Amino acid sequence: MYVLIAKTPALALSVPNSIESSLRLRPPRWHERALRRLRFRDCFAHARHAPVLDSSQQYMLEELRSEGTLILPGHINSATVDIMRSEIQSALESLDFEMPCLAQSRLDPARHVQLIRNFLYASPEELRALGVTFDKEDVSSLTQALTDFQPAWLTAYMLERSETFRKVWLDERILAIVAEYMGLVPKLAEAYVRRNFPTRYWTMNHYWHRDLNDRFQLLKMFVFLTDCSVETGPHEFIRGSHADMERLNGKRYFFDEEVDQLHPVGSRKRLVSEVKVGTVILEDTRGLHRARMPNSAFRDLGYAVFVPLQDATTTGLYRFPRRAYGSLSKFQRAFIPVCNLV
Ligand SMILES: [Fe+2]
Repeated sequence: MYVLIAKTPALALSVPNSIESSLRLRPPRWHERALRRLRFRDCFAHARHAPVLDSSQQYMLEELRSEGTLILPGHINSATVDIMRSEIQSALESLDFEMPCLAQSRLDPARHVQLIRNFLYASPEELRALGVTFDKEDVSSLTQALTDFQPAWLTAYMLERSETFRKVWLDERILAIVAEYMGLVPKLAEAYVRRNFPTRYWTMNHYWHRDLNDRFQLLKMFVFLTDCSVETGPHEFIRGSHADMERLNGKRYFFDEEVDQLHPVGSRKRLVSEVKVGTVILEDTRGLHRARMPNSAFRDLGYAVFVPLQDATTTGLYRFPRRAYGSLSKFQRAFIPVCNLV
C-alpha cells in the first residue's frame, strides 16, 4: 500500500501547500464528529459490549492518553512466545508469506535510480512491472528466497493459521483499552507479522512520519516476537506528539534534523523500543515515529491496526477462519470485518 510517490527525496520530504492540508492532522470539527457518529454508528453501538476497565487497565489507559504510547513488558508469557515463534518459522519455511515481494538483489543502482531515490515507494504492481519482485514460482525454500532475493522483510498472515496468534491479537484486556481510548469499537483492519532483515536500501517508513490511516482515530499494537535492540532495529516514537499537532505536522515525512532540533537524541521524549521478546506496545501512531532496520540478524514484529471502518465498504486485508470467529465473544467479534471471514 502506498500514499505518495515523489520524484525525488527532497520532494517526498517537503510537499507543496496544496498537499499539506490533506497531510495535516488536527482535531475533528463538530460536523466531522457528527458525520463520523453516523458513518461509524455500528462501531459506536458495539462499545456497549466493551468490558469495564479495572484499575490497572485504567492506569494504562491514562498513560496511553498522555504519552501516546503504552509499553507492556512481558505481556505474553514465554510458553506462548515459544509457540508463536515456532509457528512463524513454520509459516516462513512453508513459503506461506506475502508475494510478490520486493527483491533487493534485483535492484540495479543505475537502472532503478528513480525508485531508489524514491525510497522504493511504489505499489506492488509498479514494482512487479519494474522487475524487482519475486513470486511463488521463483522460490523453492526459505533459504533460497533469502539468498537469491535478499528481501528487506517477509510478511506472514498468522491469524488464519494459528489459534495462539488469534488469542494474542484479540486479547480482551487489550481490546478493552483500545475501545476505551478510541471511544468506539474499531475494526482490526490489518493483522500480520513481519520478519525484517538488514537491508541495503531504506524505505519511507524509516523516516520520521505520522500515520494517516485515519486522521482522527487510530491505534496500533506492536507485538515483539524477538528481542529488540538498537542493533536489531528498534521502533522510535516521540512521547506526547500524538496530541501535539502544532509542531512537525502537515508533511508526510520529516528530516532527522527537524526532529532532532525539537527533541534532541537522548531526551525523555524520544522513546526507543529496546525491549524484550513478549513485549506489547500500544501506540497512537498519528504521533511522530519511525522504524529502524536491523543491522544484523532479524527482527520479528507483529502488527495490529485499529481504525473505525464500515463493514459494508471494507476490503479484507487478512483472512480469519469462520469457525474460530464463532467461538469469540460478542465484543471480540465486533473487531473482525465480516469480509475477512473464510
Ligand atoms: Fe508509520
